[in-house]
Amino acid sequence: MEFDLSILKPQELVSLQLRSLYEKAGYRKYHMGRFEEYGLYQENLHFLPSEQVITFTDLDGRLLALKPDVTLSIAKNAQASAEERTKYYYIENVYRPSLESHTFEEISQMGLECMGRVDDAATAEVVRLALESLGRTGRPFLLQLGHMGFVTGLLDAVGAPERCRLELLECIRDKKAHALRQAASREGLSKQGTDALCRLLELSGEGARVVESADALALNSAMSDALEELRSICGALGRDAKGVQVDLAQVGDMDYYNGLVFQGFLDGCPRAVLKGGRYDPLVARFHPGARAIGFALYLNELNRRLPEREEGERMLSVALPKGRLGDQIYHLLASVGYGCGENYSETRKLVVENQSAGIRYFLVKPSDVAIYVEHGAADVGFVGRDILCEHGADVYELLDTGLGRCDMCVAGPEDFEEEPDRALRVATKFVRIAREHYAAQGRDIDVIELNGSIELAPILGLSDVIVDIVETGTTLRENHLKVIERFMPISARFIANRSSYLFKQEAVLRLLTRLSEVIAQ
Ligand code: PRP
Repeated sequence: MEFDLSILKPQELVSLQLRSLYEKAGYRKYHMGRFEEYGLYQENLHFLPSEQVITFTDLDGRLLALKPDVTLSIAKNAQASAEERTKYYYIENVYRPSLESHTFEEISQMGLECMGRVDDAATAEVVRLALESLGRTGRPFLLQLGHMGFVTGLLDAVGAPERCRLELLECIRDKKAHALRQAASREGLSKQGTDALCRLLELSGEGARVVESADALALNSAMSDALEELRSICGALGRDAKGVQVDLAQVGDMDYYNGLVFQGFLDGCPRAVLKGGRYDPLVARFHPGARAIGFALYLNELNRRLPEREEGERMLSVALPKGRLGDQIYHLLASVGYGCGENYSETRKLVVENQSAGIRYFLVKPSDVAIYVEHGAADVGFVGRDILCEHGADVYELLDTGLGRCDMCVAGPEDFEEEPDRALRVATKFVRIAREHYAAQGRDIDVIELNGSIELAPILGLSDVIVDIVETGTTLRENHLKVIERFMPISARFIANRSSYLFKQEAVLRLLTRLSEVIAQ
């Protein structure tokens, strides 16, 4: 019987091909059950936080987890030792709580793990297989290599205190130079140290070139060793290194990865489809002396890709917030060559473009900008810091435009007085920001979520205070309310989708440069 491969979905076709690729490379299939003892995750919370695990009790009263991950189970059950090499691959569905849908999502993963005696040759083999896995999708791809040793080595070298390292790593991961400078200055880091951290954000591109320019920044042996390893991997890949880049600002989960890290992107897929790296400490917990490296390919992402872009139709799409802020941003962009022939304010059009400038604007609700960009429906966008923090979008934050300045505040009646022995009732549309603000103070609150006219809540006795944006202060004044605390300065940020940043890098960086120049004037 003839088998028609065209009836397969992209993820089915790819997983079929990868099975054969991994088997040929000597990897054995690992199969795990749908459930795992919850204790395994409880003992390894630094690896996978408990909010990522869906639990239930079985008929015998045992607490089980709906498998949230495969690597940890393989690390526990593998016959690994420091002397031998064990190689497994897997195709499994894992389950994680989904904030977006308020239920859980089923993630289809295919990946491999190499454990035990992991030397340079084994590392190069895994990276090569990651590259080939991306290649089998038939789409243009890029594999970005980074090294945790380089990043943590730099944090050591500049004397970054432990208490702020997570924040600095987040700024590095999201390419937020403006926030990195602020955090570094607040923590009293030297000017050279701060400059070195910011320089890290620029160290991405063709492997050999980046490693060479990073040499000047190698301030200790951990950093030099990391560069040496990257140099040797790029060397070992030789001609296969096509599609490989180095991005030294790539930051994996610090408590998990301890060396080489990598991420794979496909043109037209909005986020990383492959993630991997070296995780010796985790496997050594179960098998002392053993090392490990592996990766997972997110098969669902292959089905989620955006419509094919026609050749030559590679315009940069910009999500522009409708309203006063969007108008300000548009005029700024128009002043540096990105204007459109027609005035969008005079029409009801939601898409306007300038083909010769290679730019297309989508006019969207301000609170939706980050969603368009994160999902790759727009390549870049402009969004207030309040919305970014509230939704926690997974995007690069490339520039603080300084436009639309205001503050996130706690406000209340003019005669407001604290009653510390009961939970404070807080009305807001920024639920996450309000919760995090009070959690940092160890204060218990009851949140009342509203969608607008928040100032009414304390006037009508619905809440004690509000957490909201204050710009001129007029709304508060005219309603006999006062600012109790200003805790977060806000302005519009220029953000980019992670995949667009790679595949349309020239256009994104051109826009970023022109914007930075005009804002600096
Ligand atoms: C925002 C905010 C305040 C007001 C503050 O409301 O929620 O109500 O602006 O500005 P001011 O300090 O200059 O008076 P928005 O206009 O977005 O409407 P909303 O009430 O629907 O949130």
